[in-house]
Amino acid sequence: MDLAEKRREVRKKLRKMEGLPTLPPIVQKLNTMIEDERVSIQQIAEVIERDQVITTKVLRLANSAFYGFPKKVSTVQNALMLLGINVIKVLITTSSIFEILHKEDVGLWEHSIGVAACAKIIAEKIELKDPQEIATAGLLHDLGRVIQKVGFKEEYEALLKAVEQGEDPLEAEMQIFGINHAEIGAFLMRQWSLPDRLIESVGSHHAIEKAKQFRKESAVIHLADVLVNARGYGKTIRKTVPFMNEKVFKLLKLDFLDIKEIYVKLEPKLYELKFFTEELRKELEASEV
Ligand SMILES: [Fe+2]
Ligand SMILES: [Fe+2]
Repeated sequence: MDLAEKRREVRKKLRKMEGLPTLPPIVQKLNTMIEDERVSIQQIAEVIERDQVITTKVLRLANSAFYGFPKKVSTVQNALMLLGINVIKVLITTSSIFEILHKEDVGLWEHSIGVAACAKIIAEKIELKDPQEIATAGLLHDLGRVIQKVGFKEEYEALLKAVEQGEDPLEAEMQIFGINHAEIGAFLMRQWSLPDRLIESVGSHHAIEKAKQFRKESAVIHLADVLVNARGYGKTIRKTVPFMNEKVFKLLKLDFLDIKEIYVKLEPKLYELKFFTEELRKELEASEV
């Protein structure tokens, strides 16, 4: 099979979501409600409260160290107002994906929330609009990896083997899948009708020149990914720091001193997050016994 064919195959499978988690009806209902401008936050909160699992997730996210609100958030409505509808939409849509998170995936989860925290710091520094949405893009940027693992087991094994033998993961996955994890993630996010800003910054995080409308956002995720990798926080399948596109400096108007400042701000955030992921790791270990 040539690369173009492989690519088509992967897309076909993604379209059918074969072997991939599908969205429960309540999530679909919530997504339609969120799109509808006539629906109030209170009405959305009421629907969420009818679902124990989603309620728990929303409250846990709102109370996690990631957001660092000083007081406990105890109602869904407050969580919706504090986090914003977009964050909640992403959370409920992707929760079925992260549900399949296993103990061995905590490293990727850690990497993702590290990138989210870093992307938010960069977005605030360069005064990009809605830094929280950029953080969400950071959280989801490697979603394609989760999809590769659960939806394409054989190919994923081959990828791990190639990386083990010293190949660059981006090149290896092009050979094996004909499409990289960034594009796979974006493809699925489009199917779920997530906002374009999120889709493009995830889809182009390894090739910012491909971004059309949201190149700066893509550059932020690209830079955050490299910085968190270089810091050694979390664990992905890669063994080396990804190649950094130096155009990000010009595009985001940053220099090396700014990078130093970003790291200074990032460090305490990572420290806090470590507690959160340690808890998650323990929970997963307990549930897998
Ligand atoms: Fe990536
Ligand atoms: Fe990454």
